[in-house]
Amino acid sequence: MRAAGFPYLRAMEELLQKIREYEAEISSYTATSAESAEAFRIKYLGTKGLLKTVMGEMKTVPNERKREFGQVLNEFKQLTEKKYEELKNIQGTNGHQAAPEMDFSLPGDLLPVGTRHPISLIRNRIVSIFQRLGFAVAEGPEIEDDWHNFTALNMLENHPARDMQDTFYIHQQPDWLLRTHTSNVQIRELEKGHLPIRVICPGRVYRNETISARAHCFFHQVEGLYVDENVSFADLKQTLYFFAQEMYGKDVKPRFRPSYFPFTEPSAEMDISCFICGGKGCSVCKHTGWVEILGCGMVHPKLLENCGIDSSKYTGYAFGLGIERSAMLKYQMNDLRLFSENDLRFLKQFTATY
Ligand code: DAH
Repeated sequence: MRAAGFPYLRAMEELLQKIREYEAEISSYTATSAESAEAFRIKYLGTKGLLKTVMGEMKTVPNERKREFGQVLNEFKQLTEKKYEELKNIQGTNGHQAAPEMDFSLPGDLLPVGTRHPISLIRNRIVSIFQRLGFAVAEGPEIEDDWHNFTALNMLENHPARDMQDTFYIHQQPDWLLRTHTSNVQIRELEKGHLPIRVICPGRVYRNETISARAHCFFHQVEGLYVDENVSFADLKQTLYFFAQEMYGKDVKPRFRPSYFPFTEPSAEMDISCFICGGKGCSVCKHTGWVEILGCGMVHPKLLENCGIDSSKYTGYAFGLGIERSAMLKYQMNDLRLFSENDLRFLKQFTATY
């Protein structure tokens, strides 16, 4: 009996060994998709699957060990079915995989949110102050002709004032240039002739300057123009004083100094008492107690005539200010180049929403 039973016994041990190997294989099976869970079912539980094959071995097991083998088979079957249930559940209700190691209680990744460019922030702020006073926004072309940028503004050819603004001319079209200031929009609005005019004109301007901490070949300005009957210098002063207080704080005091611009008569430059030191003297105001914020004046009658407007009936005021300069004052910066270098470390500091 012993001799006859021996090969049986060996076959039996091998079978049990095989089943243990399958069990290890099944336990470590991972499914990453609905398809691989189904592949598992076919391989182990299908009609031609491993479970069926192993069950078929029952008939080769000697009677006295059938009970023992039956138990092993049963455990194998339960393990395989349980595993399949697990794999199916991992696929989630809508068929998408939810990785078992995912921790849904962890905070999500923050979406990077952009911030407005400081030049846009300051422009929007300036524009909104004047809009509250009834000014409308007007725009003009950056590629301009000589008439609108210079001649109509009373800056005749060979006029020394043209030297103040080094100009980029367009090679192929000698009459065209990149506008050196937003004052061209004054002429374009006057030419339309819809009076009264009360506009604010923000935009980019160009000058042939060497780039440094204080100068750039392009920058931004805001132009203002008000033309109606009986507009006076007092109106100009009051409007710009209101603007300065809204922009730099209620405590600032205005100062108007006589100046010269070909397109205004009389002309002035406006200073405000230094909003950093309150007028005592600091590095922002270069220890003078005052900072210059804009140029302004009464529209020269010649401009009105150039645009077909009766200068005996209408008067007006105009002003122009640099956005970079305003931003540098407001944020106490000393290098203009930062505005155009796109350095995120600089740009991310500006989180205001206006
Ligand atoms: N266009 C002048 C400039 O670029 C600024 C300016 C001064 C504009 C006085 C005006 C003004 O309208 O009245 O330097």
